[in-house]
Amino acid sequence: MPQRDVMDKLVSLGKRRGFIFQSSEIYGGTGSVWDYGPLGIELKRNVKESWWSRMVHRRADVEGVDASVLMHPRVWEASGHVEGFTDPLVECRRCKLRFREDQLAAGRCGKKPSRAPGDHGACELGEARRFNLMFRTFMGPVEDEGSTVYLRPETAQGSYVNFLNVQMASRQRIPFGIAQIGKAFRNEITPGHFIFRTREFEQAEMQFFVEPGTDEEWFERWLSDRLAWHRALGVRADRLRLHEHGPDELAHYAKKAVDIQYRFPFGWSELEGIHNRTDFDLRRHAEYSGKRLLYIDSGRGQRFLPYVVETAVGVDRTVLMLLADAYREEEVGGVERVVLSLDPGMAPVKAAVFPLVKKDGLPERARAIAGELRKAALPVFYDEAGSIGRRYRRQDEAGTPWCITVDGETNRDGSVTIRDRDTLVQERVHASRVHAWMRERLEGRG
Ligand code: GAP
Repeated sequence: MPQRDVMDKLVSLGKRRGFIFQSSEIYGGTGSVWDYGPLGIELKRNVKESWWSRMVHRRADVEGVDASVLMHPRVWEASGHVEGFTDPLVECRRCKLRFREDQLAAGRCGKKPSRAPGDHGACELGEARRFNLMFRTFMGPVEDEGSTVYLRPETAQGSYVNFLNVQMASRQRIPFGIAQIGKAFRNEITPGHFIFRTREFEQAEMQFFVEPGTDEEWFERWLSDRLAWHRALGVRADRLRLHEHGPDELAHYAKKAVDIQYRFPFGWSELEGIHNRTDFDLRRHAEYSGKRLLYIDSGRGQRFLPYVVETAVGVDRTVLMLLADAYREEEVGGVERVVLSLDPGMAPVKAAVFPLVKKDGLPERARAIAGELRKAALPVFYDEAGSIGRRYRRQDEAGTPWCITVDGETNRDGSVTIRDRDTLVQERVHASRVHAWMRERLEGRG
């Protein structure tokens, strides 16, 4: 299947099965923002929980925060975003469409827009101007310069301004990190590729504060840990690679940056960035706020401004990676099926429970099994509608790893069949063992 078709198929599967909907669709949609439906939100929560578990719960040296989206406007002056968080914007004089000049130069978007009002051939581009990507709004009832605030374009700054609060409250010593998952907003000039580049998205970022001089070693440690996480999500290893930023690609705050890239259907693209931000942010916040942000450890006789190694992954991009990696179309026994081979740890629904037929007490037994699994906090789906083949196919394209069927034999010996989504192997398991059977297979995943 041509890779570019996969994106269209994901958009349509996303809507059909309730993973992702276009925002405000009944009004014609909003530009490049998306809503997560019942299955999508479960998948996204699994991604976030896996990240939080690995980055916070399983470590003694990382603490969590949840900072606000609206911060003091000086934060963004100190961080350099007011001055430098810009893309070069060019506009066509004829069709008025806008492009990012650097992407035109790299040949990444056509100069002949397909949506041009009155298709006019090649665009006539004006001069490039710097366009700031931050969304601006006003705090309070007066809309003037003095009340301007920004929707945060990254979560990182909420961790920097809370650096000493967290360090003192948690009594952490350096090296230690602050982790955060939250919304970020960027007024992208050319959003696109479904949930890959949007104007409202979620980041999972961790700022690791270290003693200067140890930053390069920590950078390497975090880079390999982050790559290991992506692999543990079950995606194909040959679709992940690293890309180190050249001097002209580095963000204004970074001494070194390496992207973890995934080979999306539209090509290799950034999934996560690992950055050595030096003491840039803390130094600037100390300067702009007039507060001392020094780390003081009198026990060890230390007093310094820490360096920061940052890991920054897009939650939505990770969801897109999982969907793209898992999507397959195949023929099974002469019947076509669409299957999402998601890792069971990531799958939104862990099992579907079916009675083979709607008689002989089978629905009651199947409902009881589904109820037991729900009580154990396993998301499951009960379905008795349609042929068993159709029920399997509905679950295959939702990414459900196991289908549990209650049949005539269940009434005789208490066993059910468990069908594996990928291998199609069916195993007979006693109904009382189903929960343990699933737990054994989910253990340590994600
Ligand atoms: N704090 C550092 C920072 O924000 P970044 O590389 O600009 O670094 C980190 O963003 C990650 O956030 C990216 O690797 C990407 O996964 C995600 N991201 C950035 N812009 C995005 C957008 N417009 N839509 C979706 N995800 C985005």
